[in-house]
Amino acid sequence: MTTDTGKTREHNLSAEKPRIDGTLKLTGGADYTADRNLPNQTYGYPVTSTITKGRLVSLELDEALNMPGVLDIFHHDNFDKLSRSPNSFAEENLTSEPRLPFEDNEIHYQGQYIALVVADTFNHARAAALKVKANYEHDDDFLTDIKALDRGEGELPGEEQPGDASSLGDADSALKGAAVSIDQRYSIAQENHSVMEMHASVAQWENDMLTIYESSQGVVFQRNALSKIFGIPPEKVTVISHFIGSGFGGKLFMWPHAIMTAVAARRLGRPVKTVLSRQQEYLATGYRPTSLQRIRIGADDSGKLLSIHHDGCNESSPAGKHDDTVSGATPKMYNCDNVAVTNRLIDVNKCPPCPMRAPGESSGNFALETALDELAVKLEMDPLALRKKNFADKDPASGLPWSSNHLQECWDNAAKRFGWDKRNATPGAMTDGDEIIGYGMATQSWEAMRQHCSARFGFRSDGSLLVACGTQDIGTGTYTIVAQTASELTGVPIEMIDVRLGDSSLPSGPLSGGSFATSTVLPAVSAAFDEALSQLKSLATAEGGVFENVDPENIEFQGGRLVQGDRSVEVTQLLKDNQLGLVDAEASAQPGDEQNQYSFRSFGAVFVEIRWDPGISRLRVARVVSTIDIGRAINPMTARNQVEGGIVMGMGMGMFEQSEFDHNGYPYNNNLADYIVPVNADMPDVDVELLDYPDYHHNAFGARGVGEIGLTGVAAAISNAVYNATGKRMRDMPISIEKLLSA
Ligand code: MOS
Repeated sequence: MTTDTGKTREHNLSAEKPRIDGTLKLTGGADYTADRNLPNQTYGYPVTSTITKGRLVSLELDEALNMPGVLDIFHHDNFDKLSRSPNSFAEENLTSEPRLPFEDNEIHYQGQYIALVVADTFNHARAAALKVKANYEHDDDFLTDIKALDRGEGELPGEEQPGDASSLGDADSALKGAAVSIDQRYSIAQENHSVMEMHASVAQWENDMLTIYESSQGVVFQRNALSKIFGIPPEKVTVISHFIGSGFGGKLFMWPHAIMTAVAARRLGRPVKTVLSRQQEYLATGYRPTSLQRIRIGADDSGKLLSIHHDGCNESSPAGKHDDTVSGATPKMYNCDNVAVTNRLIDVNKCPPCPMRAPGESSGNFALETALDELAVKLEMDPLALRKKNFADKDPASGLPWSSNHLQECWDNAAKRFGWDKRNATPGAMTDGDEIIGYGMATQSWEAMRQHCSARFGFRSDGSLLVACGTQDIGTGTYTIVAQTASELTGVPIEMIDVRLGDSSLPSGPLSGGSFATSTVLPAVSAAFDEALSQLKSLATAEGGVFENVDPENIEFQGGRLVQGDRSVEVTQLLKDNQLGLVDAEASAQPGDEQNQYSFRSFGAVFVEIRWDPGISRLRVARVVSTIDIGRAINPMTARNQVEGGIVMGMGMGMFEQSEFDHNGYPYNNNLADYIVPVNADMPDVDVELLDYPDYHHNAFGARGVGEIGLTGVAAAISNAVYNATGKRMRDMPISIEKLLSA
């Protein structure tokens, strides 16, 4: 990495910088998708299936077509012919090729789109959509609840996915020989992303060029998908997502409303805007699938782990496959010679599930970290001591050394900050007035990934910088850390750096997902800076230039100037001398050989205090302490904010969130009043500590990313604390008051 002085490094990286887009967001200047209006725009409103399984026999459209302002209604019989496109989270994990809208008349879930009404105003479109009548053939053998399929013992239900199974040693024999063992089942209810900003598309065709504004976690991904679906070259599709009101995985991949909207815009020759309702969000834009898990662990009397079996099962959909691989991280978590994991899928009559913050791993972590607590109780051992005894000093699954791993410090620091030594292991022994206090803890973890990325870096004649990348800021602070990085590289103040993201026509950048945007984007920005700098040097060393005949190697870049010995030139002057407004360059960066030499993973520890007031049946989380090792935090302020947000969602998994379906397969709590998420009144005292051990094996910035790890461990720590307070072992998330009282 090129830097001018250690001083600017201190100043810009690892610095607490408020988001540079904060003012725009607070003043209404941020152009969210649903706020965008194009000249001559029309409005789309989807009509959704009211049955859960069967066939659409006919649509009665006359009344709707005669409603005021209606321009057209699109459906199976008049829709364009399109091709399917895969949803690939990472190249090696091709998960799904979801069904297209109106592909046929089969109904796979309640809420499946059966028509799109387009009218001159939103209200006209919605009013007409309510007048569309659909005739169906019902199938009664639909499934919305996989828990009902579980026999409660032995193998989990579902179809085993061969690619998910892995094993180390001989877990069966080791379990039989273990002095102490447990065999338990765990489950987590379906959760919905419940983002603030609804999914929305605004599509416009100019000749054969499509521009679509979309609330998206992946503009380049969606551009490529639309190119395939419409059979047009990628350069003829532009996807724009300058700001998004969060996604949590629900906006990683494109959902059918975008395709319907683009088709309608092409057919009408006018822009079409479709904004989903909150109810449609819950019906048709993905969710964290319900998971069933079985864990068997064997240990010796001292607590040394001898065998772990982790079997998982999650919902998938006939409308699009999704494998959450909930047991996937288990072989990497602890030092154990005999580990066997599997994962199964069961198709349910719901829209396709999709990643939701810390997908798979947070679910699997709940089961494993709760099971370890149960094992600790059996061993009469401190749960923290049990984990410390089984620390994995290298990656047990691959045998590779960790690139950097400070989990032991996370355990120790968090325990100290929390006051774990004051814990009484006897359930119900700690009280405060009417409240019974419970302490629980869990290990946190998330894989550290990195992908290929391109970026553009430019020096402008007014002294400002341009930094551009086809990734997006989903509210996490990507604009800000890119500006910090450019400032670090150049010494130019952050206010003079123009960061452009959220546009697929920019150099290809990654999905904002998997916690890999930071580790992926910053090295590309650095590479583009190097490239642009060498262009400046070429100008300076050219015939007649200030550094004519000087070896570019001997020219340094310091705080906006090219310097050689005691001579220097301002970059702005250099551009003016050459009558240039901008010198810019594009470059790429990608992971390399280090991927075969090290295992990259972040770890943390979370400790929770819960309070149970049996007199009024109130369960609350009083305190959360989390210490996390993510390598370097480029911006500790936004990074801590990510961990805090993850803790909130972990509380949701542990205590509140679940989509509930009626006997017709309708998710009746499909709104923010009835789908319970943690709110301000639920918030505990949260103490987040970020260790600062830059991981230079991962990238030159030492950052492993921070978006998801904060959520992991929280549900288990809550459940373990509930056991410590009440003696009741809660294995089915969320721990509602009803479940706790009836346990
Ligand atoms: Mo995250 S579930 O990869 O947005």
